[in-house]
Amino acid sequence: MEEERHAVTLVVNGRAVTEEVEPRLLLSHFLRDNLGLTGTHVGCDTSQCGVCTVWVDGLPVKSCTVLTVQADGSEITTVEELTHDGVPHVVQQAFQREHGLQCGFCTPGALMLSAWHVDHYPGASDAEIREALDGLICRCTGYENIVRAVKRAQALQEEAPAAMAGQAREEASS
Ligand code: FES
Ligand code: FES
Repeated sequence: MEEERHAVTLVVNGRAVTEEVEPRLLLSHFLRDNLGLTGTHVGCDTSQCGVCTVWVDGLPVKSCTVLTVQADGSEITTVEELTHDGVPHVVQQAFQREHGLQCGFCTPGALMLSAWHVDHYPGASDAEIREALDGLICRCTGYENIVRAVKRAQALQEEAPAAMAGQAREEASS
């Protein structure tokens, strides 16, 4: 018997997408298999590892815990959207500088969690960062460097507005 399908419309990385999906289809699989956004990884499919984290209506969510039909009408942001106009998010820059990844398998989830945290809690302490990353399992156990990368991202974030203000002053006086 053919499975019943439901029409859903989501805005994914700023683009509206309408598709007919089976009611059991997980958001993680919809993103990867239907939309080809394979930056979102799937590690356990049982809500334990956090590598499938995306933002749903601006909040970090493990996409394997959500049915696509439940996300109908939502705005989804995936790791592919972190880089804008060729400029990586400060968290991506910081992960590169601090070697915040080893095999890279958990990295999409780590980036989405970290970027959200840096954007919302720019002055978080090490302990708060560790707590925020609690739902992420890094099989390479690279947690120290991930925390270091988030601290570095906080510093880069702080420098960015100052650098932009300086640039604006230079442009105004030239
Ligand atoms: Fe979603 Fe592991 S794949 S939490
Ligand atoms: Fe390998 Fe985290 S870097 S799983």
